[in-house]
Amino acid sequence: MSDSAMEHDETEALPPTMIDQAVIKQLTALSKRYPHPRSALLPMLHLVQAVDGFISARGIEVCAEILGITQAQVSGVATFYTMYKRRPAGKHHIGVCTTALCAVMGGDALLETMEDKLGITDGETTSDGLFSLEKVECNAACDFAPVMMVNWEFMDNMTPQKAEQLIDDLRSGREVRSTRGPKLTSLADSEKVLAGFLDGQGNEGPSAGEPSLEGVRLAEKKKWTAPAPKKTPKAKGGKK
Ligand code: FES
Repeated sequence: MSDSAMEHDETEALPPTMIDQAVIKQLTALSKRYPHPRSALLPMLHLVQAVDGFISARGIEVCAEILGITQAQVSGVATFYTMYKRRPAGKHHIGVCTTALCAVMGGDALLETMEDKLGITDGETTSDGLFSLEKVECNAACDFAPVMMVNWEFMDNMTPQKAEQLIDDLRSGREVRSTRGPKLTSLADSEKVLAGFLDGQGNEGPSAGEPSLEGVRLAEKKKWTAPAPKKTPKAKGGKK
């Protein structure tokens, strides 16, 4: 680990929780959006992460209380999904896809560039709290490989040079947009959107990029259509 990284050991002091009565009210409102309140746990955890920067002990406690489940059940969910962080992430969370296609198209080199540039490795946060770095699995954006995520927004067709420029721009506070349109703000803002609070950027950028549309265009040109799905035979003795 470099000098500029926050060490992720169990004795590390965690920042105090920012979950106050207003946040508890928002968490409670989320729980009421679903027929079964516990279905709201994922967005509630995103709100906890937006407020505290990670899944805090207080966040786990409050979610459990609101949903009437145990803290162990909440922890089980929070530790299963890698999007939930157990230690404070940076203001900007950088994910580099190193799954097969991105890796061969330059993802491994991108990760190395980011490690050198930020002085941290996978799972670490810079000591100024500005950036955290994560090696991510396939983002289902292989037609744009190699792909990076910044605060869960796509940066398509990246190169080490573009990635370094991106970090310089974010560090100096210059406006940076995802290659698909939306302005990059912060991990906290993105987490709030994932919790279900809209930021008004929903219509920024295309709904599908050019490489993703190529197949549709080719099929239209060649007049290809998908075969109709076969009807599933009814089980004997089943209802008609
Ligand atoms: S392998 Fe990177 S997006 Fe699919």
